[in-house]
Amino acid sequence: MCGIVGYVGDSTRTDARRVRELLLAGLRRLEYRGYDSAGISVIEDGHIESVRAVGNLDALQAKLAAGTRASGTRASGAPAAAAAAPAPASAATEEAAEEAGGQGAVAVATRPAATGIGHTRWATHGRVSEENAHPHYDSGDRVHVVVNGIVENYIALRDRLIAEQGSVFTSETDAEVIAHLIASHYHGDLADAVRAAYAELQGHYAFVAMSLDEPEVLVGARKECPLIVGRGEGEQFVASAVPAFLAQTRRVQYVENGEIVVLRPDGVTITTPSGAQLQRPVETVDWDEDTAEKGGYETFMLKEIHEQADAVADAVSDRTASGTHVDLNDVGALDESILSGIDRILITGCGTAYHAGLMGRYALEEWAQIRTEIDVASEYRYRRQLVGPGDLVIGMTQSGETADTLAAMRAAREAGASVLAVTNVVGSQATRDADGVLYTRAGLEIGVAATKTFVCQVAVMYLLALKLAELRGTMKRATLQKLVGEIKRLPRAIAQVIDAVTDPDSGEPAGAVELAAERDWEAGFFLYLGRHIGLAVALEGALKLKEVSYINTDAYAAGEMKHGPIALLEQGTPVVVVATDSPVKDKVVSNIQEVAARGAHVIAVAAESDRTIDAHAQQVLRIPDVDWMLQPLLGTIPLQLLAYAIASKRGLDVDRPRNLAKTVTVE
Ligand code: F6R
Repeated sequence: MCGIVGYVGDSTRTDARRVRELLLAGLRRLEYRGYDSAGISVIEDGHIESVRAVGNLDALQAKLAAGTRASGTRASGAPAAAAAAPAPASAATEEAAEEAGGQGAVAVATRPAATGIGHTRWATHGRVSEENAHPHYDSGDRVHVVVNGIVENYIALRDRLIAEQGSVFTSETDAEVIAHLIASHYHGDLADAVRAAYAELQGHYAFVAMSLDEPEVLVGARKECPLIVGRGEGEQFVASAVPAFLAQTRRVQYVENGEIVVLRPDGVTITTPSGAQLQRPVETVDWDEDTAEKGGYETFMLKEIHEQADAVADAVSDRTASGTHVDLNDVGALDESILSGIDRILITGCGTAYHAGLMGRYALEEWAQIRTEIDVASEYRYRRQLVGPGDLVIGMTQSGETADTLAAMRAAREAGASVLAVTNVVGSQATRDADGVLYTRAGLEIGVAATKTFVCQVAVMYLLALKLAELRGTMKRATLQKLVGEIKRLPRAIAQVIDAVTDPDSGEPAGAVELAAERDWEAGFFLYLGRHIGLAVALEGALKLKEVSYINTDAYAAGEMKHGPIALLEQGTPVVVVATDSPVKDKVVSNIQEVAARGAHVIAVAAESDRTIDAHAQQVLRIPDVDWMLQPLLGTIPLQLLAYAIASKRGLDVDRPRNLAKTVTVE
């Protein structure tokens, strides 16, 4: 996920060089979040000096060191593009800066400022390129912004700004529209312009803006994506995560969802979008840098589990923004005309990605009524390639670099099939070997065990299945609209699931997950059962536990139990049963009764309103009552936490399980 850092200080104590150093140091502390390009803009001597670079921060630093006026840098002051800049109203004499923080409001005189913003970008909309790197700027090059998240309605806003203001856009990103929108609302007060822009923006995002016309001000806005203020003496920081400024200050103020923050060297004001001032205490964080990188969580895996609501929001929000249908405009060469001609799909991938593909298969069959097969890539690549034109082969790979998946995709392409990559990494090999790409937009995943990339893969497969259902006319319009609405609300449902089974302070597993882990963490074997799409959840739950706890697990189609695995059951064997709503739920309940009768400890995953399960299970891991085809995505989350809780109790390093690599680039 992208990283934001902003700084505003007093220019009598700080110069532009130090601002750059602080911003660069802040970005380095955000490197763990993953990025493909970076940039910094600093207000200096009456213009904005902006430097952006593709690649890592060393590339950006080299450009900065080469002199900020070297190629690839821009200095504002003269309009960069044809359109007229909004009339600047200098705020040099403005009285400002009100201190919130529960200490009352204090007016301070404006002083010359040293101000800048920086960003690390993880591409979602638009290629990895210098033009698409942040900061973005308006046509007059007076307003610069750094943005995280997604602006859902950017196309409508962009078209309007071009038509009405003659705005000239220079990137392929959704983020750039924010700079133009703020500029269009600018009448001498950046905070007012940001509030006006905020009122028009849909999506989930956080951004920080600065204006050449008010060099002593930074204004940030938060809608879902995090934004945190770091309070210094005569200088203030703002960032998407605490590590960005931890070396400078430990005093923080949290900007909450739906708030605007105005930073000046001497004070910080937090307001509602309508401008009403809010009180916010200044808190002191006692994290070390390692804890800070993990967002205060004990491990990356736990942090990434908690990031799943945001990650899925990134994956689905703009694609479901209409509320009536799915937009997959970013799929590349595989446009709707090609997708509507597809009559068979084959999905391939490895490990967790294979399980996401399996969930996708059920959705494609159920909703789009399209013949869909699936095979693990290491097998598929060596099978006779009975595919050709009219077939779509989907390579599922979060890294985009898994050797077997890449080979399977290439074999299919050579045989004449269209190939779609579902991946998390822009520019990865899979994107180059495919005709089209669907990005999962989960942000960088550091924990070796895939969590947030998995739920995003599943979410994206749901979107694809709905798109094909629409194109093939296999779903009533009302049903399509209902499911699009439910997918749009998935992030909230994910947050609900996580909140129900984690401690609000530490984020550690709690409630029913903790009880199940406490009872069974010393078990030598776990059996996982599921049917239909719930089978994929069972397989993924078993893999997660196996990977991080080293407990032997088996996952089976519940109907197969009597054909062998039932022999494994003893008094107290833990059996996890995915019993979410489905047309085969009654059969799953019978399976639960069968294993319970043999003394198994049943841990069931079931919908909130389903109380039939309680009589047969020791623990029920509840998920919200969403559409039955979507429940399995939610069902995987308590199972991730169960695996995590058991591994923690066994004292294991969940982020680096033995023998496993995050990316498997060899066969
Ligand atoms: C399990 C896990 C692996 C990967 C598999 C494929 O938690 O992470 O099973 O899913 O190695 O990796 P990608 O998706 O990068 O192709």
